[in-house]
Amino acid sequence: MTPYDKLLAEADGRPFACIVGWPVEHSRSPALHGFWLKQHHLDGHYGRLPVEPQRAALEELVAFLRRTPNARGCNLTLPHKIEITPLLDRIAPVAARIGAVNTVVKQADGSLEGRNSDGFGFMATLSSNAPDWHAESGPVVVLGAGGAARAIVCSLIDAGVPELRLVNRTQSKAVDLAVPFTPTDGRRIVVDRWDDRAECLKDATLLVNATSLGMKGQPPLDLDLAHLPHAAAVCDIVYTPLETGLLAAARRRGNRCIDGLGMLLHQGRPGFEAWFGVKVDVSAEQRRAVAADLL
Ligand SMILES: NC(=O)c1ccc[n+]([C@@H]2O[C@H](COP(=O)([O-])OP(=O)(O)OC[C@H]3O[C@@H](n4cnc5c(N)ncnc54)[C@H](OP(=O)(O)O)[C@@H]3O)[C@@H](O)[C@H]2O)c1
Repeated sequence: MTPYDKLLAEADGRPFACIVGWPVEHSRSPALHGFWLKQHHLDGHYGRLPVEPQRAALEELVAFLRRTPNARGCNLTLPHKIEITPLLDRIAPVAARIGAVNTVVKQADGSLEGRNSDGFGFMATLSSNAPDWHAESGPVVVLGAGGAARAIVCSLIDAGVPELRLVNRTQSKAVDLAVPFTPTDGRRIVVDRWDDRAECLKDATLLVNATSLGMKGQPPLDLDLAHLPHAAAVCDIVYTPLETGLLAAARRRGNRCIDGLGMLLHQGRPGFEAWFGVKVDVSAEQRRAVAADLL
């Protein structure tokens, strides 16, 4: 039985979406979408589809989505977020700016639209966990210049951050990221050296870790928080573990802390709403269910 046959058998004629990646077994997306399907008593399915990192394999995926009447779309995780884009019929403006797609939606006419909800998920968890944080109120520090950082920088700039300090181990990648997102209205993206990351925290209203440092199996993030104002919010988008070393250190000194699970849950909302036609929100109950799946 191929993974496609398995997915079709699980869906059993019901409308379905799935997470596509390589590997895909570790993904928590089935748990978070499965929660909403159950919560809203919907007759649908959300599964997993392993797709190898080759163009031919992605073309097979796109053909499958097109020809399968009950396929509503999919989410994409590593390593497909960029490579899928030329194969789709349309890329939504935010996804085009970010240069990556994490959600594919099959439209009523059967065409496939690529979207990116990572920035939406990040801003949604920020506003729900730090409602008194305002984008315009001061400098923000973002660590990292990978795929997730691109979406976060895009959303923070769109939200009106006056100065974004971007710090990445490979500085040239931060420069490449900063150039297209630098606004023309005088607001700035300042690229700082990785070795100067502790000094960058002065006056910051928000610190975001968008590197993979601190994630299970990765080295810890080595960052002295002494310069970070106590009123600043600290967001770590790593969600395994939920309480990273950065969050533990920030919590000890009284900073407001936001873990990566909220972003993960919120980024699922736009796709779910488009595929299954029901508006959803993130709840403490869903958070508990998906967090239990993280262990
Ligand atoms: N919560 C969520 O919803 C969510 C969504 C997406 C991603 N994430 C998490 O965010 C993290 C980054 O994901 P991504 O997709 O952006 O990955 P990515 O594209 O591979 O980027 C990895 C980033 O981490 C940096 N990095 C890796 N190892 C490092 C080291 N030893 N020292 C310093 N910097 C290092 C890289 O710096 P260089 O450029 O120098 O290599 C790069 O900036 C992952 O842990 C992922 O699980 C969470």
